[in-house]
Amino acid sequence: MKARIAIDGPAGAGKSTVARAVAKRLNLIYLDTGAMYRAVTLAALRNGTDLHDKKALEALTLSLQLDIRTDEKGNNLVFLNGEDVTAAIRDPLINRHVSLVALYPEVRSIMVQKQRELSRRGGVVMDGRDIGTHVMPDAEYKFFLTASLEERAKRRQAELLAAGKTVSYEQVLEEIAARDKIDTEREHSPLRAARDAVIIDTTEMTIEQVVETIIDKVVLV
Ligand code: CDP
Repeated sequence: MKARIAIDGPAGAGKSTVARAVAKRLNLIYLDTGAMYRAVTLAALRNGTDLHDKKALEALTLSLQLDIRTDEKGNNLVFLNGEDVTAAIRDPLINRHVSLVALYPEVRSIMVQKQRELSRRGGVVMDGRDIGTHVMPDAEYKFFLTASLEERAKRRQAELLAAGKTVSYEQVLEEIAARDKIDTEREHSPLRAARDAVIIDTTEMTIEQVVETIIDKVVLV
């Protein structure tokens, strides 16, 4: 089977950019699992679903038609009931609510099932919070990317600015710290490094350096 690579870590550690680049270099399929939780959150907010009502969230998640496609640059395009919501799921409003939706095992198991279907064939790079610990515990390669909270907030603010969204540094820092807390402390599949993951502190590294570090390990191990 072709290699499976799991990349986990907190918000703004550079997982998505790195995972996409690694997939491209190694000619593997890339799946951004966070985008899936974001799409469910967008649907819930649009429908006015109570984010504390796990049964309603489960029913909504089951009813959604969620498609992740890949464009020629290797980016994931997210379609919700046929609509391209790739940009909409990056809105700060989604950032503020997504970790609440991701708390529920009812929602998670539906997402994880889809993720495992894709991983069965191998040849994937998946990024998220529970990929090395839960979604693909038997992945050949596992990485956990971290960076200081300040650096992650800086990166996320720059990303939002580039997408035309003006948010203050303090606001971004607060938002990712709150999300990390919920993701780390939740009962089901909390954010943590798998025992056999290689931990990379990216605070002082460029994206290219992180990509090289990963590719070196994948080729050499
Ligand atoms: O890109 P960023 O790191 O900000 O977040 P993301 O990867 O898009 O994930 C958004 C949220 O979805 C996370 O904060 C988690 O609450 C949830 N998530 C999860 O619970 N499990 C995953 N495998 C991926 C994301």
